[in-house]
Amino acid sequence: MPDTLQATAIAEIQSADTLEALQVVKTKYVGKSGLITRELSMLGKLPPEERKTRGAEINVVRQGIQAVLDEREASLKRASLDAKLQSEAIDVTLPGLPLPSGGLHPITRVYDDLINIFTRLGYNTVEGPEVEEEHYNFEALNIPWYHPARELQDTFWLADGRLLRTHTSNMQVRYMVEHEPPLKMVSRGKVYRYEATDATHEAMFHQLEGLVVGEGITMSDLKGTIAEMAQGLFGAGAKVRFQPSYYPFVEPGADFSVYWQNPRGQMEGKAGKWLELGGCGMVHPNVFRAVDDLREKAGKARVYEGKTGFAFGLGPERMAMLKYGIPDIRYFYANDPKVIGQFRGELNGV
Ligand code: PHE
Repeated sequence: MPDTLQATAIAEIQSADTLEALQVVKTKYVGKSGLITRELSMLGKLPPEERKTRGAEINVVRQGIQAVLDEREASLKRASLDAKLQSEAIDVTLPGLPLPSGGLHPITRVYDDLINIFTRLGYNTVEGPEVEEEHYNFEALNIPWYHPARELQDTFWLADGRLLRTHTSNMQVRYMVEHEPPLKMVSRGKVYRYEATDATHEAMFHQLEGLVVGEGITMSDLKGTIAEMAQGLFGAGAKVRFQPSYYPFVEPGADFSVYWQNPRGQMEGKAGKWLELGGCGMVHPNVFRAVDDLREKAGKARVYEGKTGFAFGLGPERMAMLKYGIPDIRYFYANDPKVIGQFRGELNGV
C-alpha cells in the first residue's frame, strides 16, 4: 500500500498546475480526513507488534508526500508571481498620459485684453459691490426716482430696499467719493437686469466702466480713448463710430460702435458691419455735485465741481461674441463643455 499511495500522490501533485488544484490534492492525502490519516487510524486494528513499524512506514510516506507538496506549492507560487509581474510590468519609456488642462472663459479673455489696454493707458482697476444701494446705482447718477430712465433698466430689488446693480456706473460714484481728481479708472464686474432672455439678452451680464476726470478733459479725449481701445482689441484698422444717445449721467451722451470685418466674412465676400459696443459721454455736472455731497457727508473736501471728465460703459459679452463668433449670449453661462471647451489651452489667443 504505502509505496503505491506515495507514487500516485506524487504523480497527482506533479500534475496539479494551479494552487487551487494542488490544494485539492493536498486535502485528499494529508488533510484531516485524507488517505494518510485514514491509514493511521487503521493502526489500532493491527496486532501491537506490527503497529510501530507500520506507523513509522506511514510517517515516512507522509513526509515524502509533504515534501513534494511543499516544493510544488513553492514553485506554483513563484510561477504565479512571475506571471503577475510580467502582466503588470510598466514600460517606463511610454509617453505619459496628457493631463487635460482648463482654459480661460471667453469673457475673462476679453476682460484681460481690455484691462491690459487700459493699464497701459495708466488706468487704475477696481471692483465694487453687486448688491448696491439705490443711491449709488440711480440717485447720485442723476436718475431720481421719478425719472423715466429708471424704466430703461428693469431692476432686481431686494427685500431690504437695496438692488442688484443694473450697471457698473455705480463705481463712478464710489470711486470719486474715495479719490480726488485727476483720475483714470476702469471697473469690471457683473450687472443684472430683470428682463426676458434671448440670443442677445441675459439677466446677468458683464460691463467694463471707465472714468476719467481732470482739468479740461474733452469729448475728443473720450473719442481718442475709445478708438485706442477698439484698435487694441480688433487691430490697427478698427473703425469707431459715435451716435448721439441719452444717459442721465452724461451730457452729451453717445453710443459707440466698431466696424468689424470678420476675416472669414471677407473670404465669403460679406461686408463687415457696425456693432454697437457701449455708451459713453461727458460726466454730467449733477453727478459731480452728488459726489461732492457724499464726500462732504463723509467729512471730505468738495473737489469735483468745475472739473470735467468722461465715462464709458461697455459689454464684454458683445465683444466676445464678435471676436470668437459666438452666436448666442446664453452659451456663455450654459456650462456646456462643448462651447467653453473650445477655449481650452491657448492663452490670450484670438
Ligand atoms: N451705464 C450705461 C449702461 O449700462 C453705460 C454708460 C456708462 C453710458 C457710462 C455712459 C457712460 O447702459
